[in-house]
Amino acid sequence: MTTKTTAQQFIDQIIPHKTPKKLGFGEAPVNIALNKYWGKRDVELNLPTNSSLSISLPGLGTKTSIEKNQHTEDIITLNKQLLSKESPFAKRLSLFLNYFRAAPTQFFNITTENSVPTAAGLASSASGYAALVLALNDCFEWNLPNQKLSLLARLGSGSASRSLYKGFAIWHKGTANNGLDSYAEPIKTSWAEFCVGLVEVDISEKKMGSTQGMQNTVETCELYSAWPQKAEQDLLKIKQAIKQKNFKLLGKTAENNALSMHATMIATWPPILYWQAESVTAMQQVWQLRDKGIEIYFTMDAGPNLKLLFLASDIIEIKKMFGEILIIQPFNV
Ligand code: PMV
Repeated sequence: MTTKTTAQQFIDQIIPHKTPKKLGFGEAPVNIALNKYWGKRDVELNLPTNSSLSISLPGLGTKTSIEKNQHTEDIITLNKQLLSKESPFAKRLSLFLNYFRAAPTQFFNITTENSVPTAAGLASSASGYAALVLALNDCFEWNLPNQKLSLLARLGSGSASRSLYKGFAIWHKGTANNGLDSYAEPIKTSWAEFCVGLVEVDISEKKMGSTQGMQNTVETCELYSAWPQKAEQDLLKIKQAIKQKNFKLLGKTAENNALSMHATMIATWPPILYWQAESVTAMQQVWQLRDKGIEIYFTMDAGPNLKLLFLASDIIEIKKMFGEILIIQPFNV
């Protein structure tokens, strides 16, 4: 019988030592999944039931620095505000840092700045844990390759595994029980015309975090059994679309994938509905534009905001419908 790998054993296999050397710094972008991660096969190791594929958004993300301190607790500053150690953000961060302490009495100063609203479904936990792992790598002078940093980031937040990279990235679900083959890799390509637009419906903190949401879905949603296979098929389609620069195939697959994920959420008990009335209005605006022949699609995560997918040639039409929304061209910076 094989014994289960704990998160601490997992970390100890990856990092060479636990002696902080200097002030470390890390910076990582947010990423938007085009083929979503929803559901864990191992909660402790943050192993997903399906592979996922994302696009990183340059210019939006997290910058973090970390150094050891002489205090009796972690001192955490988020967006220039000192956090109480009882705040959910600080608790989660300190629990993650526990894996890296040489002794329970070793603490850190962590300063982190987000250029995206925290916990608004704009994946600040993805850029947050990726930036933190990069800062740890610098602080401890581990010199780990990206693949290993991706494994570490995954433990903080699954989607963070993909935020180590620019452009498109695939997080392989892996099959090993020890979790060592579940990391993200970049897809080496460029697509200058590719645009992502952010429709902010509500940027206040969401009530149901993704970990809890996923668990409830896996446990109570009867539709969920169809999801892992659907996501693996969509992954193949999106990979093909990227290779062939087939925007229609990419957009269609990504929108349908997001709606399928949300269908499993809605069919969960108690139901999980991240949408607001304005989210549905924005979806209808996307469909109206499509009816007029404009290739625009959307994707949505664990929040009410829409991420629009379109090509640069349609920017004027998109702005006419959605106003001065933030538009990012991930490969054109
Ligand atoms: O990494 P987490 O635990 O924040 O989960 C992310 C879940 C989604 O954003 C809904 C999908 C994804 O793949 O990013």
